[in-house]
Amino acid sequence: MTRFLLRARSAADAFALLACVLACFFLACAASAPPASAQLRNPDTSVNPTASSVNERQLLEQRRIISGRGTIPDVRSYNIVQPAGREWRRFKEITLRWLGGIAILGMLGLLVAFYLIRGMVRIEAGRSGRTLVRFNGFERFVHWMTATCFVVLALSGLNITFGNELLMPLVGAEGFASWSQWAKYAHNYLSFPFTLRVIVIFLMWVAWNIPGRLDVEWLKEGGGLIGNKHPPAPRFNAGQKMIYWVVIVGGTAVAATGYLLMFPFYVTDIAGMQLAQMVHSTVAVLFIAVMIAHAYIGTIGMQGAFEAMWDGKVDVNWAKQHHSAWLAEETAKQHASSPSQGRMAPAE
Ligand code: HEM
Repeated sequence: MTRFLLRARSAADAFALLACVLACFFLACAASAPPASAQLRNPDTSVNPTASSVNERQLLEQRRIISGRGTIPDVRSYNIVQPAGREWRRFKEITLRWLGGIAILGMLGLLVAFYLIRGMVRIEAGRSGRTLVRFNGFERFVHWMTATCFVVLALSGLNITFGNELLMPLVGAEGFASWSQWAKYAHNYLSFPFTLRVIVIFLMWVAWNIPGRLDVEWLKEGGGLIGNKHPPAPRFNAGQKMIYWVVIVGGTAVAATGYLLMFPFYVTDIAGMQLAQMVHSTVAVLFIAVMIAHAYIGTIGMQGAFEAMWDGKVDVNWAKQHHSAWLAEETAKQHASSPSQGRMAPAE
């Protein structure tokens, strides 16, 4: 450029050339700068430098995770904001509490009303004085171990859902913290024997829990709970079969989702974890409501039922009233074998 200027024939040539260069420079600058109209301004017309940057609301409306950059190996730590988590939090803090409260208190209310109206379902013919083996020692052991694990899992789980609001004000922050720590250990460790026993229950009783023709009749008659008819039933009636499948399906669902939560990020990402928590807690509170009904009918709801799982024997008249098809089968078996080795015995 300097050589060119030196070679210019006159000062006028040099001046024209310089003017040209400057004009080009200003034109280029003008083209790259935003037009005045595009610059966002404050109400007092001064330029607002952050006006076009993303605001918090826009950020939170994003469905995807907003990530930054980092240098440590744990790439999940680069996630800065996960706006979809707000929906999950709303579920956990509001929806789940309503659902759990309605399911559990609603079931308790229904059972109290049912008890007041119907009372205990009694053995109509009275006790016969003869008993029949209904559950062997292994079946009872598995049942009570599963029930114990279930109660601890339910109480320690409900502590996560409701403890902050319901228990902490009563026991204080410190008491709640140490109880919650133990409850959490219990929830984690008892999940293993619980899962194992759900598998054993599945194998042990599946043969008697396949729906059949008698179940339809039983359901049509309200199972003998509503009204006074006692439809014939095999070893497990339709109501008990439903409880069985709730335990198998519900137990599998809480176990599968529970292990996803217990071993985070091994199998799924944050969205999967949130879904797992939602499924786990929803199934859990419904499961608890159903098991409360099961415990009711096995204790104060029906005379003679508890002893079946306690010492394994039931009164023959109880069996006749509630499981006549099963009683007929057992009697036929007894007749086929030696009467002295039969499973029916006089009550002690
Ligand atoms: C069988 C295997 C189970 C496993 C592996 C398991 C695991 C877990 C885990 C890891 C959590 C999250 C705990 C936390 O946030 O710190 C949880 C929460 C919970 N669990 Fe379980 N659990 C199991 C069974 C059950 C059962 C049987 C019930 C109830 C009947 C239950 C009820 C709950 C409840 C209510 C919560 C709290 C949900 C919430 O409010 O976030 N769980 N469970």
